[in-house]
Amino acid sequence: MVSNVIPFSQALRERTWTSHSESEGANFMGDLMSGKGTRDDYIALVAQHFFIYEAIEAAADRMKNDPVAAPFITSKLTRLPAIEEDLRFLIGEDWREQITPLPTTARYVARINEVAATWNGGFVAHHYTRYLGDLSGGQIIRTLMQRQFGFETNGVGFYLFGDIAKPKEFKETYRAQLDATGWDDAERDRVIDEVLVAYRFNTELFVDLANAKATAAA
Ligand code: HEM
Repeated sequence: MVSNVIPFSQALRERTWTSHSESEGANFMGDLMSGKGTRDDYIALVAQHFFIYEAIEAAADRMKNDPVAAPFITSKLTRLPAIEEDLRFLIGEDWREQITPLPTTARYVARINEVAATWNGGFVAHHYTRYLGDLSGGQIIRTLMQRQFGFETNGVGFYLFGDIAKPKEFKETYRAQLDATGWDDAERDRVIDEVLVAYRFNTELFVDLANAKATAAA
């Protein structure tokens, strides 16, 4: 018997929402959202995004003919060029020499590369965690950063999805695609577990960012 009582996308959301709240509530992020963070804190976060999206988008390129992963992959989501532009604006022409991955970022990137090389469902888990978040809470983050640091579009290009006019509809389609993968219950559980892994990396990254900030201030 197939136990598809609730759609997979809903089960996924429900079973990961506690982890979402932990990530959202991490001190570094909370401070940034509540106005206690600095422009440099924001830049430090954008720099880490560079390494994470470099890995996800290289993996997406390798996965684009995979029957399970392909429906999720679209250039409408591609963030790396926007991140590079943001860093050029925020740091300067030599931005690439100025940034290095924090320990959690290095582990997160290694995990994305490992999973994407061997398992399409795991790749989708990482893809979902970042892009659906960017299209959701990311829009709140953008508004607050614009307000706090006076950004218009430069500096927050990462959060501007110029090719997605209606994020709500885009997310609905994405969820319908999650429901249509044909994954059995065991695979669905594995994917949910990988989303939990992705959330943990994001939460730990905020801890690393807070530690790096404390070290720099000491
Ligand atoms: C200050 C930080 C954050 C805020 C304020 C926030 C807020 C939100 C909100 C309001 C939604 C629901 C949108 C909807 O109903 O469609 C959402 C969804 C989501 N967020 Fe966040 N979020 C934050 C951080 C994060 C982080 C760090 C991640 C992981 C990288 C993340 C991943 C997601 C995902 C994957 C969803 C989609 C859930 C689903 O509908 O399946 N968020 N976020």
